[in-house]
Amino acid sequence: MRIHLAAVCLSFWSGVALAQAPAAPAVAVGANVKHTAFRPGEQWHDTEGNLINAHGGGVLRVGKTYYWYGEKRAQQQEEGVTVYSSRDLYNWRYEGVALQPSTQPGHDIEQGCLMERPKVLFNKKTGKYVMWFHLELKGKGYSAARAGVAVADKPTGPFRYVSSFRPNGHMSRDMTLYLDDDGRAYHIYSARENYDLRIARLSDDFLTATKQDTLLFSNHREAPAVFKTGGRYYLITSGCTGWDPNQATLHVADTLFGPWQELGDPMRGPNAQKTFGGQSTYVLPAPGRPGSFIFLADRWNPKDLKDSRYLWLPVQFRQGQPTIEWLDRWNLDFFAQPGAKSAGQ
Ligand code: DGJ
Repeated sequence: MRIHLAAVCLSFWSGVALAQAPAAPAVAVGANVKHTAFRPGEQWHDTEGNLINAHGGGVLRVGKTYYWYGEKRAQQQEEGVTVYSSRDLYNWRYEGVALQPSTQPGHDIEQGCLMERPKVLFNKKTGKYVMWFHLELKGKGYSAARAGVAVADKPTGPFRYVSSFRPNGHMSRDMTLYLDDDGRAYHIYSARENYDLRIARLSDDFLTATKQDTLLFSNHREAPAVFKTGGRYYLITSGCTGWDPNQATLHVADTLFGPWQELGDPMRGPNAQKTFGGQSTYVLPAPGRPGSFIFLADRWNPKDLKDSRYLWLPVQFRQGQPTIEWLDRWNLDFFAQPGAKSAGQ
């Protein structure tokens, strides 16, 4: 009987994945190719037919439009922060470089600096779009370990550089931002040579970190991505192995300041123990489906960083716990499948 049930289960789940594979896959070359699905790990072209160049990124929703911000990479060098827009999350229009490196010698964001893992929030009080990123100064490797801040009047920018600093004196490398339901925003960042993961509440204008700055845990983690559902906060992180993939970890907490409980590796499927060759960068609430989320990761290609690939996968809740399964191809209808459990189902 158990074997029979397992077989039914297996065929059901294969059915779900197959049901999401469109009959005519979008060919990812050329302009005007309409994408109808996510294809994790495949090259992903924008509406002009160019490779999407937005690594270590994050997504902001403004009305019905999504804005994807990320690192613009040449083969190695970082060339500013790009922004793309989309209404359906499959087809992205290039909106340009939202934050340009400076041509002024000695400037904090002088060309040749690193502006990694950019994230943008809208501040309702000031009416500004605020970008935070991990800044490394030109020619200084990863030693500066600063958070950088820029602002804009429109989601597409141009963003104006404001300042950079070590929040409350702490080193700040990989990072994310999180906007809570009460309008308060937070900076979650790797500190103390990446041994610590910390959280700092942002000032009301989102331009600086307040003194409310706490150690979350000291597990040598980076690439934080936060989401909230059912009144609980979830945090996905990676280990620290440069561009090489490693095992992801999921933590849960009742408040952002912790305590955070480790729940193990949420990834499932081939190469799950190496995050499918990727590294977390963001978790995006799925459109129109409260309790459904999309996990965003980068599969870095250190030999040609601009051709690093994107892994967008649905977060599924098994026994109430978020899990992320590998799928070759899927679309947002996945969340409507009876077997694709959102939070609370
Ligand atoms: C891992 C980080 O997560 C990336 O953002 C980048 O800084 C690489 N390290 C550089 O090796």
